[in-house]
Amino acid sequence: MAFTRIKGTQDFLDLSLYNFFIKKAKDHMRLYHFSEIATPLIEPVELFQRSLGEQSDIISKEMFLIASGENKEEHICLRPEGTAPAVRAFIENNIQQTPWKVFLYGPMFRYERPQKGRYRQFQQFSMEVIGSAAIAQDAQFIKMLERLFHETLHFNNFTIDLNFLGCLDDRIVYRDVLYQFLTSPKAADICETCKVRREKNIMRVFDCKSPVCQEIYKNAPYIADHLCSDCASEWQELQDELDLLSVSFSYRPSLVRGLDYYSKTVFEFSSGLLGAQNAFCGGGRYDMLAKELGAKEDQPSIGAAIGIERLLLLLEIMKDHLPIEQEPALHLIIPLGAEQKKLGLLLADELQAQGLVADILLEGASVKSMMREANKMGAAYCLLLGEDEQKTGTITVKNMVTGAQESVAQIDVVSYLKK
Ligand code: HAM
Repeated sequence: MAFTRIKGTQDFLDLSLYNFFIKKAKDHMRLYHFSEIATPLIEPVELFQRSLGEQSDIISKEMFLIASGENKEEHICLRPEGTAPAVRAFIENNIQQTPWKVFLYGPMFRYERPQKGRYRQFQQFSMEVIGSAAIAQDAQFIKMLERLFHETLHFNNFTIDLNFLGCLDDRIVYRDVLYQFLTSPKAADICETCKVRREKNIMRVFDCKSPVCQEIYKNAPYIADHLCSDCASEWQELQDELDLLSVSFSYRPSLVRGLDYYSKTVFEFSSGLLGAQNAFCGGGRYDMLAKELGAKEDQPSIGAAIGIERLLLLLEIMKDHLPIEQEPALHLIIPLGAEQKKLGLLLADELQAQGLVADILLEGASVKSMMREANKMGAAYCLLLGEDEQKTGTITVKNMVTGAQESVAQIDVVSYLKK
């Protein structure tokens, strides 16, 4: 029986678009003075239980758990996201210089129901500013993302949704207000899932997909209308600064995001071209997370993560217009007989040593089939080595685009090809 991929995972056989994105994103982050870090793929389960919240979808049903150690007592998991690990690294490595502006990228794991744009192993490009309370930081951060998509990747088909969740005190007050609404006759017809969420993780009711519930929530009280005076002025400041930086956004009062650590600013970038899973980047402020994870002091922070697969689905549509680096020209060496193979090997070795991309056909077949193979491989030049060439110390170089053929002395071939 042949093996197949684990459900919800993918093989990537052409990484040109992925590499293009990673290079552009890294360059962009350096422009904003971020540095790259890497953290392990495995982390203690409790790190995420504490940060994302027991009631979040990730903790309640999507964790990839690994029981390890001799007594299977070590509770390890595959990381479902990159923020808690970055904060753990900040605390554990005793970083003193704040704000700590870092990014990391790589695979994340969530046991979700797979569909287009939603996988069990997927890639995130995750960016964090740890240790900065200034709301202007949020405006700059959102502008940085907008510029990455808009100017650096030339992608315009997206919207930015924004909401403000206030501070902890605001949410304590607001939860009561929302609870009253959800238990009033106005909300009598909400679905069973929303009734459970009302009791356990009340703000998540807004994520419900049911049109009946969504109609009811149009009349719900929203948190941005129940902010303390400090938060209200920060919310206003954020909107003013985004205007100042010419960032277009929509206020989406029902945007709450699924993870417990958020406070104040939350946002999502989404595109109608993606279908049901339309958010390709999401983030927000997490002012209380560091202390929750053991830091001595609060470290107000903001961050976001790009879902790389979803972004690639979008870039794929416009791939032909992107300045993706061309593969360098392939020089294919074709020994026409068994006797020329050794000479072919030496020639390939010399070309590669001189920095020219070279390959050699070693499975000797007819000239015709080898030329067909060369075409399939996309060779720019074929270097033919037959008995005559061997005797005369030459190579027949065939330009595969023009079809022109030239005899070149073996000792001159590198300089000929470099020209
Ligand atoms: P998140 O919204 O859970 O946030 O994920 C960020 C992005 O990752 C989503 O917008 C989506 O594009 C992508 N994504 C999430 N789950 C999947 C999946 N199963 N398959 C494919 N793509 C997926 C976070 O993870 C936060 N850590 C972001 C953050 C950083 N907040 C502050 N700092």
